[in-house]
Amino acid sequence: MSQTYIEDLKEHVGEEVTLKGWLYNSRGSGKLVFLQLRDGTGIVQCVVFKGNVSEDLFEAAKGLGQESSIIVTGTVKEDERSPIGVELDVTDLEVVQNATDYPITPKEHGTEFLMDHRHLWIRSKKQHAVLRIRHTVIKATRDYFDDDGFILADTPIFTPAACEGTTTLFEVDYFGDDTAYLTQSGQLYNEATAAAFGKSYAFGPTFRAEKSKTRRHLTEFWMVEPEVAYAKLEDMMDLGEGLILAIVKRVLEERRPELETLERDISKLEAIKAPFPRLHYDEAVELLQAGYEKGELENKFEWGGDFGAPDETYLSSQFGQPVFVHRFPAAIKGFYFERDAERPELALGIDLLASDGYGEIIGGGERASDLEFLEKQLEEHDLPREAFEWYLDLRRFGTVPHSGFGMGIERCVSWMCGIEHVRETIPFPRMLYRLRP
Ligand code: 4AD
Ligand code: MG
Repeated sequence: MSQTYIEDLKEHVGEEVTLKGWLYNSRGSGKLVFLQLRDGTGIVQCVVFKGNVSEDLFEAAKGLGQESSIIVTGTVKEDERSPIGVELDVTDLEVVQNATDYPITPKEHGTEFLMDHRHLWIRSKKQHAVLRIRHTVIKATRDYFDDDGFILADTPIFTPAACEGTTTLFEVDYFGDDTAYLTQSGQLYNEATAAAFGKSYAFGPTFRAEKSKTRRHLTEFWMVEPEVAYAKLEDMMDLGEGLILAIVKRVLEERRPELETLERDISKLEAIKAPFPRLHYDEAVELLQAGYEKGELENKFEWGGDFGAPDETYLSSQFGQPVFVHRFPAAIKGFYFERDAERPELALGIDLLASDGYGEIIGGGERASDLEFLEKQLEEHDLPREAFEWYLDLRRFGTVPHSGFGMGIERCVSWMCGIEHVRETIPFPRMLYRLRP
């Protein structure tokens, strides 16, 4: 028996096809039963008319519970009222399992309940749309780097040392005699692969033992991290800008129905255009202080600080575009940053702040290339020298200026989807208070 997918139904008008899926919803009226069938690619209304099928089959159709698994055969009919333009006139129905008491009903459930049932919740229309958009964001991201000559060189998840500060490390017992940490970022290894391949990227899960409960933080999230030998700070802003434009374009091309399901204001995505403003940290501070003077920000931002969520939202709202901020106080940045030659108190870092208050999407910058400087930095940051010896080798053998960044996939997806919380942008989120299911 062959199977047709709902997303292809329009090519089969007038034909008899077989669909395999699950019952999303149903209702009956006298001689008719309307089955909303989903198969992962879409939802279609299947009409069971008493006169067209056996008595047993009609009764079976009437008695199906939500999420019953069913195989439906019927004729594809054009229908103007259908969101997908077609419906199915049922001629045969096979019940694989009649499910009863499915816990997620069309009524409103609280988020905690839904999160506890995440393994089922991902079947629902909105969650389904978000995860399809995630797929497209990832595909567009990979294509962007692959088409630009980058080599995918994935980096380890068990690591012997910190990359992004020791306070957010997850520790793992490594056969009793060594401690491993779950990687916070593949960056240090990317620096090695960039020296080997020129342009490389890693794409994988990263971990932060963040005790924060914000709507932007997961303890396990996916990051794409390009690294380029001989590249400078400005090159990373070009690369990041190109990446965002490529993602937005692809999402608009391929995921309009999903964006509509999510009621995303599509015009805001369509309005995203290069060049994105590039603000020096000093300029960002001036804008924030002016915002405070005007009463548009609650707290006065002082030079030297790290942006909080309200600051990020305020900055991007000034432009209606994603905004780069570059050259941060070195004191608030990682040990590995190159310094500004004219103002050594500044680290050559970049952040990209999404429009509409979706926060920091990209973080990265130019890496220190001088051996002695890095040796001093390790000391100042209290990092164990022997765990970084291999990293220092990169400065001993053919050191060059080089730069890279990391983009958090979930933050990017939540921005594309226009949804508040990153927990819905990954199939099974891991957070401070959530390890299950
Ligand atoms: O700014 P971050 O910490 O930068 C780095 O890890 C660099 N070593 C990357 C590099 O240069 N190769 O993280 C990069 C991005 C952030 O901009 C954000 O999008 C995302 O990763 N991110 C998180 N996403 C979800 N939950 C968290 N707890 C995140 N922390 C960072
Ligand atoms: Mg950052």
